[in-house]
Amino acid sequence: MGETIIPLADLRYAAALPPVPADAPAPNGLLSDRLGRALRDLRISVTDRCNFRCTYCMPKELFDANYKFLPQSSLLSFEEITRTARIFVAHGVRKLRLTGGEPLLRKHVEDLVAMLAALRTPDGEALDITLTTNGSVLARKAQALKDAGLQRVTVSLDALDDDTFRRMNDVDFPVADVLEGIAVAQAVGLAPIKINMVVKRGTNEGQIVPLARHVRDRFGPGVVLRFIEYMDVGASNGWRMDEVLPSAQVVQAIDRVFPLQALQASAPGETAERWAYRDGGGEIGVISSVTQAFCQDCNRARLSTEGKLFLCLFAGRGHDLRALLRGTLEGQAYSDAQIAAAIGLIWSEREDRYSELRAAQSPAADPAERRVEMHYIGG
Ligand code: GTP
Ligand code: 5AD
Ligand code: SF4
Ligand code: SF4
Repeated sequence: MGETIIPLADLRYAAALPPVPADAPAPNGLLSDRLGRALRDLRISVTDRCNFRCTYCMPKELFDANYKFLPQSSLLSFEEITRTARIFVAHGVRKLRLTGGEPLLRKHVEDLVAMLAALRTPDGEALDITLTTNGSVLARKAQALKDAGLQRVTVSLDALDDDTFRRMNDVDFPVADVLEGIAVAQAVGLAPIKINMVVKRGTNEGQIVPLARHVRDRFGPGVVLRFIEYMDVGASNGWRMDEVLPSAQVVQAIDRVFPLQALQASAPGETAERWAYRDGGGEIGVISSVTQAFCQDCNRARLSTEGKLFLCLFAGRGHDLRALLRGTLEGQAYSDAQIAAAIGLIWSEREDRYSELRAAQSPAADPAERRVEMHYIGG
């Protein structure tokens, strides 16, 4: 298909102007991509900024004072985000996740949460709304987020040991403040809380068991710790396969101290494989996108801070929905139905499955095309 690439002042990643088919059926929640995958999960990045410089995501050398983050005028407004989310819900999305960068750095993000919490599925149900945060300002924000209608939260935390944690966030941020953020989130009733630990061999593998023990002891079964295999997202982190610790080894290490049993997946397309502590102390998860790709049922779409739609975490090219949200056709703003038709066409042509192809050692991406960065698109 011929694609138009629009040169924009703040263009970071190539983005095609989505064609708007004239005779598309109204969205009915039954969209399916070329590999038969539904659309259920929309991840919305609300800022490309972050106050951490995790070495595997925003290495300091690249993201320094000279780095140009997106200007305010590029960001989708809360109204634009909510309108887009509403259209995605009509197409079958049932889960919304706010991410960043660090989403709690976006001013008044709780107002956006309230707007999204008011959306309903065609059957009148509320959506599953969550947020991924580094936890640095969670203690201050948790109550406002809960009041706005946020149900749950996922906190990134890579170590319990303060020195290791400060080294990994690379801005000398103390681990105690993140733990306090989790405690406050739990106290105000955000649930379930998940903690995501990215495991890098040679950096924080020694933290697996201590963090598991701490989460059990301090927070109990209501907080689920998940271990993520270090991935080759973006092009900045100098990823090496020998720094990936396979999840099987994480499970083994924990099982030796706290015996585990496998749990059934709770939803199709789920990222995490779940394990229960045999003593009833809750559960853990492992996310193994490197050693066990889970593209087969991937139902996730990603909306960048300036309104580009990405169909895969490893995509190099987005679809410029903002051009439709702000643009006109023959002097008229695009209608929701037209934008829905464009999104329907984009999804129906999707065939991304990067992790599966990586495992087969046949990278699909054009090496000349820069892959999207995690701080820009979120997890
Ligand atoms: P829950 O609904 O809370 O279980 O969330 P989730 O597991 O769907 O999402 P979360 O954002 O917590 O994902 C955890 C981590 O898994 C992310 O930080 C990414 O590192 C990784 N991840 C999430 N989605 C994908 C994906 O589609 N592809 C790949 N390769 N990795 C993903
Ligand atoms: N590999 C795996 N996970 C990553 N994240 C960021 N970069 C990577 C990577 N290279 C995770 C963060 C956070 C979420 C937003 O994505 O730790 O949990
Ligand atoms: Fe770290 Fe998340 Fe910030 Fe990236 S966006 S630097 S992973 S806290
Ligand atoms: Fe989905 Fe792409 Fe991740 Fe595969 S690599 S699970 S297609 S986002």
